[in-house]
Amino acid sequence: MHTADVTEELARRVVAAAGRALDVELTPEQALIQASPRDGVDYQANLAMSLGKKLGRPPREVATLITEALKLDGIAEAPEVAGPGFLNFVLRKDWLETRTAEVLGDPRLGVPQTAGPRTIALDYSSPNVAKEMHVGHLRSSVIGDALARLLRFAGHEVLPHNHLGDWGTPFGMLIEHLLDVPSGERAIADLDAFYREARRKFDSDEAFATRARNRVVLLQSGDEETLAVWQTLVDESTRHFNEVYALLGISLTDKDIYGESFYNPYLAAVVDDLETAGLTEISDGAVCVFPEGFRNRDGDRLPLIVRKRDGGYGYAATDLATVRYWTAERGATDLLYVVGSPQAQHFAMVFSACRKAGWLTGHAEHVGFGTVLGADGKTMRTRAGETIKLVDLLTEAVTQAAVVVAERSELDAAGQAEVARAVGIGAVKYADLSGDRERDYVFAWDRMLAKEGNTSVYLQYAHARTRSILRKAGGEPEGTRILLDEPAERPLALKLLRFGEALDAATNAYAPHKLCTYLYEAAVTFSRFYDDCPVLKAPTPELRASRLRLTTLTANTLALGLSLLGIAAPDQL
Ligand code: ARG
Repeated sequence: MHTADVTEELARRVVAAAGRALDVELTPEQALIQASPRDGVDYQANLAMSLGKKLGRPPREVATLITEALKLDGIAEAPEVAGPGFLNFVLRKDWLETRTAEVLGDPRLGVPQTAGPRTIALDYSSPNVAKEMHVGHLRSSVIGDALARLLRFAGHEVLPHNHLGDWGTPFGMLIEHLLDVPSGERAIADLDAFYREARRKFDSDEAFATRARNRVVLLQSGDEETLAVWQTLVDESTRHFNEVYALLGISLTDKDIYGESFYNPYLAAVVDDLETAGLTEISDGAVCVFPEGFRNRDGDRLPLIVRKRDGGYGYAATDLATVRYWTAERGATDLLYVVGSPQAQHFAMVFSACRKAGWLTGHAEHVGFGTVLGADGKTMRTRAGETIKLVDLLTEAVTQAAVVVAERSELDAAGQAEVARAVGIGAVKYADLSGDRERDYVFAWDRMLAKEGNTSVYLQYAHARTRSILRKAGGEPEGTRILLDEPAERPLALKLLRFGEALDAATNAYAPHKLCTYLYEAAVTFSRFYDDCPVLKAPTPELRASRLRLTTLTANTLALGLSLLGIAAPDQL
């Protein structure tokens, strides 16, 4: 079967025609094919305008010459030249029928693997040890996991790494505090309370503060007893994180943990390399790099502190080491960091320094995201003003979802409980994924769990409905023949054939919301089809089978799409 999407199919032919008619050599991207916003037109090619300029010929003339040279092989009708020189394509019904039938039998639903697989180090989740994960880490986990799934599906190798904040000065006070707790009671039930208590003692008890500072030195010099206590803190925290990952269905495991401590052995060499390359300066006793072009409001250059005055290393040094490790030691061609937007400048400076140092030649990107806001428009907190515990939030989601599910469900109690989990967790994840990630969004249960609109619940219901139709029909029909005669059948087939375009757009821009929007539109298109075209009671057996096949392809598209977002799609709600 062909594994090129419609855009590629058209692009290939348009480029060939341009070559024949105008003696130019173009890449398929340069055909500038896109979905047409106009009614009755499926695609347009926009190359004639730029090509006209380059060749010094009127774009409409260029468009006409390309049209005359086009060999469309039955994909589309000969295009109409419109406006300044758009080529307007209408796909042929028989071609759509054949292509839909081909896609139906393909486990990848017609989506090709990338021709240029890359090795992508993906930093996501990355919470801090001895602190509760907060909604920002939730967003990083959810977006990062969706990107991991999308990138893998596209055919790239993904190297996930969870950059735990597990090192640095706070660990002095945390370790001392843990040592003060009687050993029988060392399990930490509440990470935030534990952290606050340690901080309180550090601020109010001079003797404790001194012990804590000495403990940092012991930790960094590798003292075994200290490391053992530190390990307890890491293990306790990791248990909490894993609990959240399990609830969420996040695919990170312990082997993906590359905390800040992991890079400790590399830090001295990082400083050496930077010094040898002449990139460092001493400022206030600290070894610093001043990447070009970064200044504060007063116009002073901004430093990346590589080694502090006391000889210690901080967040920036570790991130320099991280780049060096994943590129040089692990062969990553791309580095992605799914971290909140407030850290944009940090990453820009790190990338700049690493390029100068020669550790970074490929693609590096901070995949930033906005803040999750409470109803008051401020960073989400509990009523008492504390950060919300994710475990509580997710439990609440499942409780609320159970109410929504109970309104309609025909399942027994156990079935409903399982579905409530899929719906509640799905709603939280979809809220993180469905908006442009750069933007802040307000966390609101009623909107997240609305049965209409662009929500995961809506998609889960749409998916369950397609499965229910197929169940009632006694399963999927054999054969693959598709008929697209009714006005509501063609748009559904075309929408389903455009799954690959949506995946491409979402994957290339690290923008899962593009896939969300597509799935929502596909579900709406199916719903229109279902309103207009009887499926189980179609007028002829051929039509019934064809419509059941369209229903199957819709079901599989929604299921695969949701799975690439990390959202469950139960067959029945
Ligand atoms: N632990 C950090 C935080 O909670 C995020 C780390 C992100 N990754 C990185 N390589 N800096 O803010």
